[in-house]
Amino acid sequence: MDVIYMDNNATTKVAPEVVEAMLPYLSEYYGNPSSMHSFGGDVGEKIKEARQNVADLIGATPEEIVFTSCGTESDGTAIRAAIESNPNRKQIVTSRVEHPAIKNLYETLSKQGYRVTFVPVDNDGILDLDYFYNSLDDDTAIVSLMWANNETGVMFPVEEISREVKDRGILFHTDAVQAAGKITIDVGTTGIDMLSLSGHKFHAPKGIGVLYIRKGTKFSPYMIGGHQEHGRRGGTENVASIIAMGKAAELAKQHIDDNSYACVSELRDKLESKLLEKVSYSMVNGETKNRLPNTTSIAFEYVEGESILLMMNEHGICASSGSACTSGSLEPSHVLRAMGVPFTAAHGSIRYSLSRYNTEKEIDFVIEKMPPIIERLREMSPFWKQAVGK
Ligand SMILES: Cc1ncc(COP(=O)(O)O)c(C=O)c1O
Repeated sequence: MDVIYMDNNATTKVAPEVVEAMLPYLSEYYGNPSSMHSFGGDVGEKIKEARQNVADLIGATPEEIVFTSCGTESDGTAIRAAIESNPNRKQIVTSRVEHPAIKNLYETLSKQGYRVTFVPVDNDGILDLDYFYNSLDDDTAIVSLMWANNETGVMFPVEEISREVKDRGILFHTDAVQAAGKITIDVGTTGIDMLSLSGHKFHAPKGIGVLYIRKGTKFSPYMIGGHQEHGRRGGTENVASIIAMGKAAELAKQHIDDNSYACVSELRDKLESKLLEKVSYSMVNGETKNRLPNTTSIAFEYVEGESILLMMNEHGICASSGSACTSGSLEPSHVLRAMGVPFTAAHGSIRYSLSRYNTEKEIDFVIEKMPPIIERLREMSPFWKQAVGK
């Protein structure tokens, strides 16, 4: 059975060009980039190239790019660096819909005496800006807001907000793990001080991330060790993955620049509109205007998301009922709860996240298979019987 992969916000296929670029650095070219000999030095040159490509993807300079092990490390490093370099400030301002990669760190920091303010969102997943600006004060060490939500794709206006925050002398971090590689990012025109990326969300392998640190930002490393990454992240470089990420960044930039992502959003829009048309009591979670081009979260009311996924799986269709990290628990996702999505809809929500590898044929297949799946499950659902009186 062919796999129809629509779970790209969980992780992506490593692009064949990326595999090709990284393989020699797992075999012939195994030198340490810090070595004095040219066998290692040549590897160092290749890392420089990768750093430039990642910088180009987000409008940064190579010196502002620090390679890490993943998006989670980048997020945690940014927050810890901000509070360590501002020891007199004890407040962190964030949103209620952040990824667990960062949300769970706040629980630890709250126990250590930090005041974490979680700004609410409305039914469409839009940030409450009045609440946000009223939360900022002289005690705020850092604002951290995700650029795009992993479950709904809804984007916060981080470019505008970061400029305002910077004017108030407060550090600004954004988790751009889902945005990077899908939309144009140009940090130079924003007030963003730190930004997190993860390679496996845009066709590089798992286990490689980046933290962008704007030149001049006060920073203390989380991983203290050797002089690697100019002392900002100790540890011998994950060479092959860094090279892979550089290649993936180069390809992603090409795809954004030549507007290939328009095809992805056309496919997403077709999938969404047809499913809404064919399945009664279905709706999109989150606003559809400022949204990632590849994501749609659709609530099929009165059915259970996990059961939907199992039946989709029988047809080889891969999607998600929430973020990869939250599925496995039957609790409705904290994102949908923060948006006030009713219980019966939150439970039946499926996230489809596409990539440039999806085809129209696949979309048509999913459009054909979904309505009977929902119908069968509703026939067995007591909620459905209660709601429609059958
Ligand atoms: C918005 C967001 N931030 C952070 C992460 C964590 O990235 P990583 O898996 O590279 O640690 C993810 C992963 O799903 C994510 O979607």
